[in-house]
Amino acid sequence: MVRTKEVVVITGASAGHGRAVARRFARRGASIGLLARGRDGLEAAQREVESLGGRALVVPTDVSDAEQVEAAARAVESEFGPITVWVNNAMTSVFSPVKRLRPEEISRVTEVTYLGYVYGTMVALKRMLPRDNGIIIQVGSALAYRGIPLQAAYCGAKHAIQGFTESLRAELLHDKSRVRVTLVQMPAMNTTQFSWSRNNMRHNPQPVPPVYEPEVGAKAVVWAADHNRREIEVGSSTVTAILANKIAPALLDHYLARFGYSSQQTSEPVDRSRPDNLWKAVPGDHGVHGPFSNRSARRSPQVWTTLHRGTLAAAGLGLVLIGLSAEVLRRRAAHKDQSLALPRMRTPTLGGAPTSRLQTG
Ligand SMILES: NC(=O)c1ccc[n+]([C@@H]2O[C@H](COP(=O)([O-])OP(=O)(O)OC[C@H]3O[C@@H](n4cnc5c(N)ncnc54)[C@H](OP(=O)(O)O)[C@@H]3O)[C@@H](O)[C@H]2O)c1
Repeated sequence: MVRTKEVVVITGASAGHGRAVARRFARRGASIGLLARGRDGLEAAQREVESLGGRALVVPTDVSDAEQVEAAARAVESEFGPITVWVNNAMTSVFSPVKRLRPEEISRVTEVTYLGYVYGTMVALKRMLPRDNGIIIQVGSALAYRGIPLQAAYCGAKHAIQGFTESLRAELLHDKSRVRVTLVQMPAMNTTQFSWSRNNMRHNPQPVPPVYEPEVGAKAVVWAADHNRREIEVGSSTVTAILANKIAPALLDHYLARFGYSSQQTSEPVDRSRPDNLWKAVPGDHGVHGPFSNRSARRSPQVWTTLHRGTLAAAGLGLVLIGLSAEVLRRRAAHKDQSLALPRMRTPTLGGAPTSRLQTG
């Protein structure tokens, strides 16, 4: 579907999943405000958006600064008009056990990964509420429900987004607002974060299998812009993690204690001179994908099922109705056969002569 007046803001659009989302919105002709810090990545994303049929505005922004986020929203609206979709997606993380995290690392991850979403949501609401129109999409994670070792700062921020969004949703419902907020919870994806997130471990980080290409998540995000869903869980691993944590959280604690360290690290020793993006952007264009394409799925049957659940439910209902109709016809036919086979009750006539078909025919 192409919406001519669709104006989208994406935070963290210079690389990784946010850039995949930008490409997908571009294909349907959207006008897109591209927010992140790295100019090289943003300008490359702008070229891609324009070559795919969209329009793009590069707005270098650090999402941990509320004033910069407000200025970015102003710039996008003065270029393209009212913002209709706001996608909070920017993140940063530190791979480290809590005992080796420094306070300033935790506060920085929280300011970018949690408060960046809060500021984005607030500037979007400021514009959408008076118009009573718009959708805010929070790119979340299975880790919004289940903390894992070595990512405490990030998991804390993702949990916080969850709580913040639930409060906001209830307020929007209370006010009978038509502004919507939705969470799209992602599985592990092969993005740039594993090459540039700060790493206090001895080995390079990796996404925990099963891994999906970021286009799988981007598809769900763009779909969410058109549908009124409270939350979308992307990938069967996300569904399983959330469910397992509800059923047996203590068991999961032990499972993660045993496998959570090794599953998040490759066997390659980390290069200590490698730059990280915690405080400032890493120069250059880093694209959408990380180095794990050879083990990343390009599709997810679970996503297809989730996004088509209305059609599937209608098809299921149709099959049930067909089955029921067939059963009714079968019973009617059986009843008719029985009627023909059994002798009819005698029906007395005025003259007392029998009238049953078996006797007269
Ligand atoms: N990859 C996964 O396995 C995975 C799993 C579940 C959920 N997710 C979610 O998917 C979303 C995208 O993650 P990703 O894997 O694509 O991460 P990524 O590859 O590291 O990309 C992060 C993006 O955020 C931007 N960014 C970082 N700090 C910023 C700041 N202070 N201000 C503005 N922009 C900033 C980065 O650009 P600059 O450095 O140029 O600013 C980049 O565009 C996140 O919300 C994440 O939680 C990812």
